[in-house]
Amino acid sequence: MNALISPSILSADLTQLGADLRACEAAGADAIHIDVMDGRFVPNITFGPDIVAACKRVTSLPLDVHLMIVEPEKHLKTFADAGADFLTVHYETCPHIHRTLQTIRELGVKPGLTFNPGTPLEPLNLLADMVDLVLIMSVNPGFGGQKFIPQSLEKIRQARAILDLHGSKAIVQVDGGIAPQTIRENYEAGARNFVAGTAVFKHPEGIAGGVRALRQALA
Ligand code: DX5
Ligand code: ZN
Repeated sequence: MNALISPSILSADLTQLGADLRACEAAGADAIHIDVMDGRFVPNITFGPDIVAACKRVTSLPLDVHLMIVEPEKHLKTFADAGADFLTVHYETCPHIHRTLQTIRELGVKPGLTFNPGTPLEPLNLLADMVDLVLIMSVNPGFGGQKFIPQSLEKIRQARAILDLHGSKAIVQVDGGIAPQTIRENYEAGARNFVAGTAVFKHPEGIAGGVRALRQALA
């Protein structure tokens, strides 16, 4: 199955993060999604580079770091040094997005670019060859457990079309409200990387049950 599942530790039990990460790995997750929030770009405040470094020590899964912070360019090296494999920045926070993506690449990290639900994708035409990942936000960022915004499906189709037009092999990732009920339509629209917090960590049968339910919905 060419669908990658990235549990978001925003919904993990932080009193036992190491155990949760090992459970994700055992459940066959493909990457770990780490939501960095600054209380400015988004209302919530979460993790910094020390958490990324701590995750690096307990899992060999790629670390996919989603930067929901203003002036992300000030912190790219710190997160790269902490062990990020992907660094995803928001189009809305980057007036010099071309340079920011270039810097991420120069740091030896895979660049990701994300767009909020209300942000058009047109600039992706100028940036398609600079990214390894395009994240379509399917909720307004800041919190887990929100409802999937259906218009995201059309944006996923658009993102895939723009990337294909420019010959880019970048993956389309979707984040927010991904659950067994929504994952399939996102796959059909062209997403291949699924971030899931609630659906993995709050599943009644635990982390393995959560990952299994998402895979089953795609089968
Ligand atoms: C939202 C974050 C997401 C969040 C998704 O701002 O970017 O990664 O963890 O949570 P769920 O899967 O619960 O919608
Ligand atoms: Zn995220």
